[in-house]
Amino acid sequence: MKLNIAVLPGDGIGPEVTAQAVKVLKAIAIEFNHVFIFHEALVGASAMVKTGDPLPEETIAICENADAILFGAIGNTAYDIDPNAKVRPEQGLLRLRKSLDLYANIRPVIAYEDLLTKSSLKKSQIKDTNIVIYRELTGGIYFGEKKLSEDGNNASDICEYSRFEIERIAHLAFKAAQTRKGKLTLVDKANVLESSRLWRRVVQEIAPKYPDVELNYQFIDNAAMELIINPRQFDVILTENMFGDILSEEASVIVGSIGLLASASLGDKHAMFEPIHGAYTKAANKGIANPIASILSAAMLLEHFGLDDEADLVREGVDKSLKLHITTPDLNTKYDHVTTTKVGDFIEDFINNPDETNLN
Ligand code: IPM
Repeated sequence: MKLNIAVLPGDGIGPEVTAQAVKVLKAIAIEFNHVFIFHEALVGASAMVKTGDPLPEETIAICENADAILFGAIGNTAYDIDPNAKVRPEQGLLRLRKSLDLYANIRPVIAYEDLLTKSSLKKSQIKDTNIVIYRELTGGIYFGEKKLSEDGNNASDICEYSRFEIERIAHLAFKAAQTRKGKLTLVDKANVLESSRLWRRVVQEIAPKYPDVELNYQFIDNAAMELIINPRQFDVILTENMFGDILSEEASVIVGSIGLLASASLGDKHAMFEPIHGAYTKAANKGIANPIASILSAAMLLEHFGLDDEADLVREGVDKSLKLHITTPDLNTKYDHVTTTKVGDFIEDFINNPDETNLN
C-alpha cells in the first residue's frame, strides 16, 4: 500500500516521540512492502517562531493532501502562564481539527498486565481495564463563541452542540460498542446543562438502531469518580469535547503513564493520529519522553487503513518493550538509561526480527 503521511512533530517532546513513530512506520513499510511517504510540516509554537502562525497555510495544504496525519504535541509553557497572549500554539491544533472536520477522537485505555504496579491505583482495581473513549472533537465549549468584555471583567465561552454533531459521533460509538462488550456509557451533565440534555435526547433516539448495545448514563462528576473506583465497568464512553479531554487524561492514571495513551482523530475525509499527552516542554531534548503513545498512534494509523497485521506487530513490539522494562523513566524502568530513542530502536528491531529482539 502507498500512503502519504503528513508528519507534524510540533513542540516540546513532540519531535522526539514522533521521530520514533516514523522510525517504526519505516520498519513496517520495509517488512510488509509498503510505500510510506512522509511530508513534514510546522505546527504550534515552533510554527509561530518561524511564520508567526501556529497553523501555516502550507501545513493545512500538506495535511489536506495526505492520506493520514501523524501529530506530535503542541504547546509551550511561555504561553501557558500568559493570559494575554493573542495567539497560542494550541490554536494550531484546534484549527487543524476543525478545518479537517476531525470530529471523532478515539482514545483507548488499556491496563497492561506488566504495568499494573506502575499505576497509583490498586492493582486489583485496574486489572483488565479496557475502555475506549469517544470524545467529540470539533464542537462544544472549545469552539463556541468566546467573549471578553471591554473592561476585561467579564468573559464567556459558549458550549453549543447541534443534533448533527452528536449523531455522527454517537453512531461511531454505538458501532464500536457492537464490536466490543456491547456497552455504551454516555457521560454528560444533563442535570444542569441544556447541551447535555440534547446529547441524551439524540443518543436515546439513536439507541433503538443498536438493540445489541446496552446504553447507560453517568454525570461527568460521577464518571470521574467511577473511572477511578471501578474502571472495569466501562466499555465505550461517549462524551463531548471538554469532558472527554479531562476524562481521558484522568484515565491515564489507570494505565500508569500518560506517555502510553494514543488516539485517532477521525473525520469523514481525513484522519489524524496523535498521542493524548501535551508538549511537556521541560522534558524536551532530554531523551526521557515516552514514545509509546506516539508509536501506538502509528499502530492506530495502520489499523485505520486495514493493515491489521502491521498494527499487531507494532503492538507486540510495544508489549515486549514493556515486559522487558525497556521503558523511559516515567515508568520507573529498572534500567537507568533507556532513552526515547532506545525504546524506538527496540521496537524497530523487534519489527525487523520479532523472534530475536532483546535489550542490547
Ligand atoms: C488534547 C490536548 C488538547 C485539547 C490541547 C493541546 C488543545 O489537551 O489533545 O487532549 O485540549 O484537546
